[in-house]
Amino acid sequence: MEQRKGRRLILFPLPLQGHINPMLELANILYFKGFSITIIHTNFNSLNPSTHPHFTFHSISENLSESEAAEKDLLLLLSHLNAKCCLPFRKCLATLVSDVSKEPVACLISDPVFDFTQSVAESLKIPRILLRTGGASFTAVLSAFPILQEKGYFPKQDSRLEEPVTEFLPLRVKDLPMINSSDPKRFFKLVHDLTYETKASYGFIFNTFEDLEQHALAKIRKELHIPIFAIGPFHKCVPVTTSTSSLISQDQSCISWLNTQPSKSVIYVSFGSIAAINEAQFLEIAWALANTKQRFLWVVRPGLVQGSEWLEPLPSGFLESLNGMGHIVKWAPQKEVLAHQAVGVFWTHNGWNSTLESICEGVPMICFPFSADQMVNARYVSDVWKIGLQLELGIQRGEIERAIRRLMMEKQGEEMRERLSKLKDKVNLCLRQGGSSYQSLNGLVNHILSLES
Ligand code: UDX
Repeated sequence: MEQRKGRRLILFPLPLQGHINPMLELANILYFKGFSITIIHTNFNSLNPSTHPHFTFHSISENLSESEAAEKDLLLLLSHLNAKCCLPFRKCLATLVSDVSKEPVACLISDPVFDFTQSVAESLKIPRILLRTGGASFTAVLSAFPILQEKGYFPKQDSRLEEPVTEFLPLRVKDLPMINSSDPKRFFKLVHDLTYETKASYGFIFNTFEDLEQHALAKIRKELHIPIFAIGPFHKCVPVTTSTSSLISQDQSCISWLNTQPSKSVIYVSFGSIAAINEAQFLEIAWALANTKQRFLWVVRPGLVQGSEWLEPLPSGFLESLNGMGHIVKWAPQKEVLAHQAVGVFWTHNGWNSTLESICEGVPMICFPFSADQMVNARYVSDVWKIGLQLELGIQRGEIERAIRRLMMEKQGEEMRERLSKLKDKVNLCLRQGGSSYQSLNGLVNHILSLES
């Protein structure tokens, strides 16, 4: 722990699991660097202050209605949050900034999806730095959206999905970022907010490292002319902490189950906190897993299967028929699971956090992206870093079984493990004294200390 800096940082996470985790990990890193940490959080998916007693928490009452909070259209939910959070956030931030009994506020660190934070920070004369929770490669693609739109890649046409995107090889048209919504304009507005509205910030922080995304980071630096800090992987930066920012309670039974399984024998299956599948896809996954006769740990989050509470669509006796080869939970301690010696493969939706967590533990991936940045992440995993296989045909038993066989039993899996082992070494190096993330973090600390609010 470094000497206290006499400065306070205010962090404001977007209240979705994949955004909360990296923001709180970043808060931990900056706390260890000597800053005091204040977290502003919403009532929607509110955080539990007792998990991080060394931070100060302030909640704002954005008062989403019941139907707004239950909105399944992600972009509509984000638009409700943006509309309702602005005023209470401004009020809360103004109070915190004017509190002279506490250390002065050095800056606000916010999520660019909250589009109002720039104007609020500007009006209160607080420098704002942005945490980009996605990868740099994805961010570079977003920055080029106007050109990609001009070139006719959008709306994506079914007949062109497999075509290469020549400006961003090896991406294919189907890999370009997209979030489906009842109104397609909402996605393009979000992209606009994530690119143009962010140029006025005092810098970007990325949860990545130079050796992984050097080209994309260089591209962003060249285009944006604002300080860019690649200080990840966040969860490996700070001394191990047991604090969790999970919104759903993590079922520890999977660790006891993993403890009884042979080394690298288990396929871990999880599609993150937002993705949803239909009942037919759910059953196809279940049968594919059962048919391979491999051990599996499957996270079936309540809400994963549209129209079902949890496991009801499974045929009765399905789990019992596996003779202990399969274990299903609602939510897992994912980082611990991926670090467990029994886990051999991760079947993932390639959210950025899951992708990085898998890289850090050297686990090859079966990639099945759903939305947003996941298609870009998956293409990099399969075609650039070559540490995973992508299910190109959707959820189909035959393809899934083939991918599992190739990764668990064939040479291809071994080769990926070797590449991952080299990447893991690079992770360790970048975090050590003199490494790229280590230096970038020191650069960030100095940058923050140089800001005058
Ligand atoms: C979302 C987007 O989908 C993702 O693409 C974007 O990069 C961030 O926001 P999400 O879908 O939840 O995130 O995926 P991901 O980024 O992988 O984050 C999920 C987090 O939840 C990870 O940190 C993972 O460790 C954690 N998790 C997941 C658990 O703790 N337990 C689980 O059972 C599953």
